[in-house]
Amino acid sequence: NISPSAQGLTQFQGFWIPTLIAPISSIISFQKYFQALDEDIIVASKPKAGTTWLKALVFTIVNRHSYKLSNTPLNSANPHQLISHFEIKFYKENLNPDLSKIPSPRLFSTHLPYPMLADSIKRSNCRIVYITRNPFDIVVSSWHFIKGVHNLPDWPLEDCFEMFCRGEESYGPFWEHALGYWNMSMEKPSNILFMRYEELKEDPVAQTKRLAEFLGFPFSIEEEKTGVVNQIIDFCSFNHLKELEVNKTGKMPRSIIPSNKLFFRSGKVGDYINYLSPTAVELLSNVLKEKLSESSLTFN
Ligand code: A3P
Repeated sequence: NISPSAQGLTQFQGFWIPTLIAPISSIISFQKYFQALDEDIIVASKPKAGTTWLKALVFTIVNRHSYKLSNTPLNSANPHQLISHFEIKFYKENLNPDLSKIPSPRLFSTHLPYPMLADSIKRSNCRIVYITRNPFDIVVSSWHFIKGVHNLPDWPLEDCFEMFCRGEESYGPFWEHALGYWNMSMEKPSNILFMRYEELKEDPVAQTKRLAEFLGFPFSIEEEKTGVVNQIIDFCSFNHLKELEVNKTGKMPRSIIPSNKLFFRSGKVGDYINYLSPTAVELLSNVLKEKLSESSLTFN
């Protein structure tokens, strides 16, 4: 089985880390050195849960008074360049970067599970937005993505699926990852917002307003009247972002992701139905039922 080594998957602090993308040294440095500020905003997720989408929304909401949509940096930069990961960018390029000059509110992101966050984040009053997604779509999305990133065109879906069910996948186990943020979102609701890809698809207006309020950048009555919320939703939609030149043909500097277009595949809810057999769906449903049995967290 070539896939785990091709991804550099290594178990660390109870989770599987894709060390080619996020080296252990950068995680340790982040945990040791990062000093959170109360104004910080952190986008947290497991890969393929809707990170790119959420980053576009957060960036646009927070910066909407500085940039019109016609000249927002999102027109020429991938969302991951505007909100970068601690473990994939900041602490990978420099083990102790000076992040104090970044204008407030500083926008960061991470794929790390809650228990692995720097203590200063847990002690501070900063805001964390977590996005999750039904694991069936995550498996299928991950399979496509990993094949593209690591050039594994023949990697069988069954392999990817079985690894996922064992929890042996990027930042997995999936259920442990989601549970950590779910529990904390109930303990500290003003610091951690728990979002779902499916809810964002189903009612983008309500969810975008909820997000903006949580972030401390609520929409005014005037903005609501003049359609600002819908303009932001349309700008950040799959169809719009995917067609921007930077996301069609661009590549992030110094990233091992060969092309930005890998972040935009089908953008649908329930696409797994075209890939997973009913038996596979039942199998993963049973795994989830068992793993989440003591929690109020559920996935449809
Ligand atoms: P699919 O592979 O199912 O299409 P992440 O950003 O966490 O890596 O997740 C990537 C998934 O989100 C991919 O799912 C991708 O197509 C989808 N996606 C990217 N941008 C999106 C957007 N603006 N709206 C909805 N889905 C989006």
